[in-house]
Amino acid sequence: MKLLVTGGAGFIGSAFVRLILDLREPPAIVNLDKLTYAGNLENLDPIASRSGYRFVRGDICDAPLVDALIQEERPDAMIHFAAESHVDRSILSPSPVIETNLRGTFTLLEAARQNHVPRFVHVSTDEVYGSVPRPLEADENFPLNPSSPYSASKAGSDLLARAYFTTYRVPVIVTRASNNYGPYQFPEKLLPLMISNALEGRPLPVYGDGQQIRDWLYVDDHCRAIHAALEKGREGEIYNIGGSRSLPNIEVIRKILAATGAPETLIRYVEDRPGHDRRYALSSAKIMKETGWAPQVSFEDGLAHTIEWYQRNTGWVARVKSEEYRNYYARNYESRSEHIEPAS
Ligand code: NAD
Ligand code: TYD
Repeated sequence: MKLLVTGGAGFIGSAFVRLILDLREPPAIVNLDKLTYAGNLENLDPIASRSGYRFVRGDICDAPLVDALIQEERPDAMIHFAAESHVDRSILSPSPVIETNLRGTFTLLEAARQNHVPRFVHVSTDEVYGSVPRPLEADENFPLNPSSPYSASKAGSDLLARAYFTTYRVPVIVTRASNNYGPYQFPEKLLPLMISNALEGRPLPVYGDGQQIRDWLYVDDHCRAIHAALEKGREGEIYNIGGSRSLPNIEVIRKILAATGAPETLIRYVEDRPGHDRRYALSSAKIMKETGWAPQVSFEDGLAHTIEWYQRNTGWVARVKSEEYRNYYARNYESRSEHIEPAS
């Protein structure tokens, strides 16, 4: 068994590679990643020298490279994580988001079709449903209503993947997961940004009123669900993957402050994100019923473990907070509030 993973140097992709290579009889893994600002080979240090693992630096939009790699490696399945994954960056600079998420996914699907790859798992997101009004939960048939350039590009690639099944019978499975958190997450997303700012005594920028709701999924639970979908999912199907733990952002932030011992005076309410989705809510009944998967890590345990990881890995945090990060931070936050200080 051999898997071609894209985006395996990012947060979720690297967790998937580490998890899979720790199985009793692990498949071989080829990891194709461009190493953008979000890709980091340090995330793969624990497994980099394992036999059966190969890293290839390259762009998923590079059709000749993707085609040659598939012909050389003949993978049994492709697991497609690579993406520009951040809503705020997609608002500031939509172009790379459209290129990678749409053209990149098209390039991979086309290569899978031409080379008859036996299985293609497309890693999508619950953000394709847009804001879900109370008291509803989105199941897999819920209408798509994406709000940001990021979520619209993910909805487009998700639909294209399904069209490749319907039209060409490329054996596609689509997974739509809720907000992930855990170790190695780049400090642009809510949890790692708030944890790292709290640990450094820096302000915590809360968009709008902080009452937006997200469903939190521990990253290893997400990776186990993708593995279950790969092994037991049905071709042409969509599987929602939620953490079954919905919380308003401000409650998450207060939990982080309590756990790190940082004062509530660090909280800053700043100008809201344009097009901000108010509530994500997801039903994972289908994947639970069909594969037996269920989330194993409670939010309290996952958060405690994540905070401990960021406390122990200050070197990793310092290295990813590059000049590029500081520029992004200034662009995204300085115009929102005069109170926000530059990133360290
Ligand atoms: P990430 O930003 O941490 O990692 C993305 C990875 O893709 C990086 O290693 C980057 O170098 C690579 N990449 C980007 N553009 C590329 C290109 N053109 N060619 C090759 N590699 C490229 O993202 P993540 O949080 O790990 O998300 C992984 C996937 O899961 C994405 O498809 C995302 O939409 C989806 N997802 C994420 C979440 C979440 O909460 N983070 C939730 C649901 C779904
Ligand atoms: P994020 O981690 O960017 O994920 P997504 O937008 O894909 O759900 O944000 C999670 C929530 O946290 C979202 O409601 C926006 C909010 N948020 C803040 O209030 N402040 C911040 O600095 C960030 C990054 C996010």
